[in-house]
Amino acid sequence: MTVVYKVDPLEPDRLILRKAAEIIRKGGLVAFPTETVYGLGANALDPEAVKKIFLTKGRPADNPLIVHIADKDHIHKLTKNVPKEAEILITKFFPGPLTIVLEKKPIVPDETTASLPTVAVRMPNHKIALGLIEESDTPIAAPSANKAGRPSPTKAQHVLQDLGGEVELIIDGGATRFGLESTVVDLTAKPPELLRPGAVTLEMLREVLGTVHIHPSVLQQVAWKEVAKSPGMKYRHYAPRAELMVVLGNHRDVQMKIEQLIQDFGLRNMRIGVATTTGKQYRVSHLERLGMSKQEIARNLFDVLRRFDEARVDVIFAEGVDEEGLGLAIMNRLKKASGYKIVRA
Ligand code: TXA
Ligand code: MG
Repeated sequence: MTVVYKVDPLEPDRLILRKAAEIIRKGGLVAFPTETVYGLGANALDPEAVKKIFLTKGRPADNPLIVHIADKDHIHKLTKNVPKEAEILITKFFPGPLTIVLEKKPIVPDETTASLPTVAVRMPNHKIALGLIEESDTPIAAPSANKAGRPSPTKAQHVLQDLGGEVELIIDGGATRFGLESTVVDLTAKPPELLRPGAVTLEMLREVLGTVHIHPSVLQQVAWKEVAKSPGMKYRHYAPRAELMVVLGNHRDVQMKIEQLIQDFGLRNMRIGVATTTGKQYRVSHLERLGMSKQEIARNLFDVLRRFDEARVDVIFAEGVDEEGLGLAIMNRLKKASGYKIVRA
């Protein structure tokens, strides 16, 4: 059975956090909100607890987890050396939607890092997440709280859809603020390498670090051998059940291309969904507005992908956005969700 507790994200009830922390300390799982997406948490230093995360999510064992801390200084307990670049990012962006990859200390079990010599660390900017970590008195390993391959959960309801009955406790702190998972930067690479774009944008990272490389998988599908470093990148992600195509180009061309696709697929008697970022009113079975600003689009994206599943459409056309700022993260998730089915208008 799964218990859901509603908790005020701005003034969380300490007693409930203590109950949740008790589950973590005993080696159990708790789903909780962060400012990015909901996480499925376990004691990061307990191999048996961490194994439960992989089992519950159906996550391949070679995909490492992010370790969450509630105190900047705790990074030294988990990582061997903290280079200047890390100090800069911690000062500027912790707590926040940024994960840094550093060399791990032996205290971090192989189960958590999928046997990599590195560990990914992040300090969430969310009172429920921080309170839970503090009360647990241990760092918490937490992937997004969805079944592997499904869109990440941005509401407690999404966690319940995927993991209801399989997790002891879900803390419901409302919809998450950013809606996309944290930015992941590998600081063991020289120069630093962006492994996953998020709300801490590439431009923000370059402003403080100078040169930052982009791992090829951020922009396109990459060959098997190139993904060894962050194995998570090779798996299909965020996928709705219907076939999804992303249409790119300037607004007018994109809208015309989608009108044409609606006609073509309509002739084949398919139920069509469209996700619009321009606000155009297409006449289809199911129309979803992603939002007009990138912030809005990011916040709504995973919820909208799940809603298309409920609407039982056969095919979805999504209007893309440019890849500047937060656009890089939005397009990265859209491309992956589509299995890289991209149409140029
Ligand atoms: O916003 C987030 O980061 C959320 C919330 C819950 O904090 N968590 C999350 O975790 O998105 P997950 O497991 O869904 O994604 C973790 C990503 C994966 O792409 C994984 O491959 C990468 O981080 N990663 C973890 N440890 C790594 C490591 N040592 N080296 C390289 N990549 C790593
Ligand atoms: Mg995930």
